[in-house]
Amino acid sequence: MKFFIDTANIEEIREINSWGVLSGVTTNPTLISKNGGVFEDVIKEISEIVHGDISAEVISTDLSGMLKEARELAKISNNIVIKIPMIEEGLKAVSILSKEGIRTNVTLVFSVSQALLAANAGATYVSPFMGRLDDIGKSGINLVEDIAFIFKQYGYNTQIIAASIRHINHVEDVAKTGADIATIPYKIFKEMIKHKLTDSGLKRFLEDFKNVKTKEK
Ligand code: E4P
Repeated sequence: MKFFIDTANIEEIREINSWGVLSGVTTNPTLISKNGGVFEDVIKEISEIVHGDISAEVISTDLSGMLKEARELAKISNNIVIKIPMIEEGLKAVSILSKEGIRTNVTLVFSVSQALLAANAGATYVSPFMGRLDDIGKSGINLVEDIAFIFKQYGYNTQIIAASIRHINHVEDVAKTGADIATIPYKIFKEMIKHKLTDSGLKRFLEDFKNVKTKEK
């Protein structure tokens, strides 16, 4: 399973990218607004840092507006993927853009039906939102599991990005479903790397090695 980072914060992206674990970045209008800066400039900067797919979201909700924004954003760099909301006009946009060779990430997916529609329209990615489903008492992981099973059964090429990830268990559970990607917030990457036994184990190794003779350099 590949990892994307779910942020528009350049420092966070640089730090996690320096670990060598990132295959892409997802942004959304909320993340962009938290970060500040000029939207197109932020997306360009991100696309130069991470050599993987960078999702940039349209804000129009009508077909011609979405197509116009998508075509402009796609010009920023070859690794830009256009995030399109899961609405009727969005499906039409995905279908047209896919025929133009512009890759898409259908966002705000909360059901198997929506994921199937997106895949049939030619989406490159679908993003089921786990945390937001959990918030309303439904199971985010069950949705990802169902979509992964069905896409595999039928051989869809559309990749699954498990999104709205809130804790480490989400990441580990998603990995068992066969989903292609988890898009993970910075804070959770920092939690993922930690284990108290790693810290105490390293401390002990370093202490013990103080008693070891080494060759003079
Ligand atoms: C994914 O593409 C979305 O940007 C993101 O995962 C939404 O997460 P949230 O529900 O924590 O806002």
